[in-house]
Amino acid sequence: MKEFWNERYGAKEFAYGKEANVFFAEQLVKIKAGKLLLAAEGEGRNAVFAADHGWDVLAFDSSSEAKKKAEKLALDKGVKIEYQLAELSEMNLPENYFDVIGLIYAHFPAEIKSDYHKRLDRSLKIGGYILFEAFSKKQLTFNKRNEKPMGPLNLEMLFSIEEIKNDFPNYEILILKEEEVNLSEGLYHKGIASVIRFIGRKK
Ligand SMILES: C[S@@+](CC[C@H](N)C(=O)[O-])C[C@H]1O[C@@H](n2cnc3c(N)ncnc32)[C@H](O)[C@@H]1O
Repeated sequence: MKEFWNERYGAKEFAYGKEANVFFAEQLVKIKAGKLLLAAEGEGRNAVFAADHGWDVLAFDSSSEAKKKAEKLALDKGVKIEYQLAELSEMNLPENYFDVIGLIYAHFPAEIKSDYHKRLDRSLKIGGYILFEAFSKKQLTFNKRNEKPMGPLNLEMLFSIEEIKNDFPNYEILILKEEEVNLSEGLYHKGIASVIRFIGRKK
């Protein structure tokens, strides 16, 4: 999988653009800046946006090409981010530490995805927020409507509202919806998509 991502990010252009995900940006600015963790952050678009808005950002991703591009983007924009090259299982995350965790198109294999959510939950403070956007299971049928498919082609790597409720039972749900959006993010998120958007506050 790392090879796939390194190849994708090896191109000069940004796979998902340099602008933060719209939902993430809209929601993040409503929260008082503090410590933010961005999982599977790719080329750094969300990290750089957050740092520019006063957040103390730790991002990680398992792709070395992603890290290079993210660090260069931060340098170009004149902001500071910390970015670790790691799988989530290799991260030594402090417990009860972050104010916000961002999961933006953080799709993991079926056998680890719920466990990953639980690990991340442990590092979020009580009262902290999860900001989440990713493709829903309906995306597989939506893909037929676009020129190029978007997101994982494996149903189990995609999300449902039920899965989010099961993975985050200890959260007050502020937003949890499956909706149709028109994505325009870089080279690979282009067209009509079905996504799950979730904002949860840890109880
Ligand atoms: C669709 S990209 C999303 C990137 C970024 N969050 C964004 O929205 O621009 C998915 C990312 O997940 C990363 N990834 C996949 N499995 C991972 C894992 N087990 N640990 C850390 N990163 C992972 C990939 O390297 C890739 O950058």
